Amino acid sequence: MKTQEEYLQELKQWLYDTADVPLEEMSSFFANRLDSYEEHMSAWEKSYKLFAEEIPPECQKILDLGCGTGLELDKIWQMKPDVEVTGVDLCQNMLEKLMEKHSDKRFTPICQDYFKYDFGNERWDAVISFESFHHFLPERKKELYSKIYSGVKAGGVFILGDYIACCGEEEELLRDAYLKRRNQSDIPDDCFVHFDIPLTMGHEKALLQEAGFTVEKVLDEAAAIIVCRKGGK
Ligand SMILES: C[S@@+](CC[C@H](N)C(=O)[O-])C[C@H]1O[C@@H](n2cnc3c(N)ncnc32)[C@H](O)[C@@H]1O
Repeated sequence: MKTQEEYLQELKQWLYDTADVPLEEMSSFFANRLDSYEEHMSAWEKSYKLFAEEIPPECQKILDLGCGTGLELDKIWQMKPDVEVTGVDLCQNMLEKLMEKHSDKRFTPICQDYFKYDFGNERWDAVISFESFHHFLPERKKELYSKIYSGVKAGGVFILGDYIACCGEEEELLRDAYLKRRNQSDIPDDCFVHFDIPLTMGHEKALLQEAGFTVEKVLDEAAAIIVCRKGGK
């Protein structure tokens, strides 16, 4: 097991070694890796199962943000085959793979940027997202969490499964590298690129609470799982 110091040392070396590698546009990044994607993500198998177990038993309508090929939905539909899901993703190829696997399910695909998609008002029993939001700066997440808060029904949940920075130094190193690399390639503000910029657990929870959520449970697994509720049950 690596110490935090060793981990940060390796991260700094990796950032130094890859400083000149151009960033890839988000949806092409996933489309280009579609064939190996699910195998790559199998490292999070246990987290997908734990994540699915947090869906409340009474839940009927789910909004999944950045659903990709639906690895979290594989587990959720195993437990609740009738639950109705709307899945938003930028990458059409990922959505197509999801639909091939689950042609018999109640699923509405939306190939769109979730910052632009209208979540509506008090429309969803649960909003979920697994391993998608760590590509965005806290300023953008703040906007997204408020939108999610409005979209969830009173008493409903937002369940976030994501990659978390081990400390403030990791968060800062990645944010600085991300901004520097966007800048050096003159990437326009409205272009999403694939680069991980996770927040610390403290920072993530503070943003969720600022949006109005009560953080009810945190499972600190390979991917952290944060269960948030809107208002009382
Ligand atoms: C690492 S994958 C996770 C997919 C799935 N949730 C899973 O765990 O397998 C991240 C997904 O988020 C999607 N994504 C990233 N930014 C997005 C945005 N702004 N709007 C919609 N989807 C986005 C990507 O296209 C990709 O499919």
